[in-house]
Amino acid sequence: MSPEEWRQLLAGRLVWKETTESTNDDARALVEDGAEAGTVVVAERQTAGRGRKGAEWFCAPGDGLAFSVILAPEWERHHWAWTALGAGLAVCEALEGVGMTPSIKWPNDVYLDERKVCGILVEAIGERVVAGIGLNVNGGEFPEGVEAISMEQAGGRSYQRESVLELIWRRLMEVSERSVEEISGAVWERLAWRDREVEILPAGDRGRIVGLGPHGELLVDGDVGRLVVTDAGSLRAAP
Ligand code: BTN
Repeated sequence: MSPEEWRQLLAGRLVWKETTESTNDDARALVEDGAEAGTVVVAERQTAGRGRKGAEWFCAPGDGLAFSVILAPEWERHHWAWTALGAGLAVCEALEGVGMTPSIKWPNDVYLDERKVCGILVEAIGERVVAGIGLNVNGGEFPEGVEAISMEQAGGRSYQRESVLELIWRRLMEVSERSVEEISGAVWERLAWRDREVEILPAGDRGRIVGLGPHGELLVDGDVGRLVVTDAGSLRAAP
């Protein structure tokens, strides 16, 4: 697709960049300039794409999607932690729409076949939230040590990036109008390792995932009782 064709997507609410540092930073600047909810920044290349906890984010130009959406969630400010899970839900529903069976790995990843296909970085800016989404659409070459998968690898065929972007954008807009209760139920249905033993790293605590708390926390029953996990370096199925 040409830059012009990209820019015509989403009724003119899309800002397309060949190269940028991070689309989350671009979206933040747009929020500060008063951009409306639903505005999206997409980049073919990010020179400083970032993930949670300062990790680098790699996106294969021409194969992956790296974009940030400005949201104005309906729910109260103290529920905004649901935004990452809500964005994961929107990505899942979009992938389900093309026949895939994704899951949400708490708190901000989407998995296909037990491997990461999408990472989400949510940042609050005043009354707005920026949801940065990195999705492996086609191809399948990842930096050494990265255990990831693309939609193409999981689905056995390639996907049109612009159609996938539009699907996710529509689901995001729709999910941000749902109640926290609805989102919680839909996330729980898709949660990876639900009712299964997990290990929470780096502490190494273990237990069974039994639910989601009112603020999107992960509830884990372990030997020492109920753990309310609000932040995890990393979570994995218990070996
Ligand atoms: C993670 O897995 O830790 C989250 C990765 C989020 C990556 C996306 S790509 C688009 C947006 N811009 C960034 O710099 N990061 C997010």
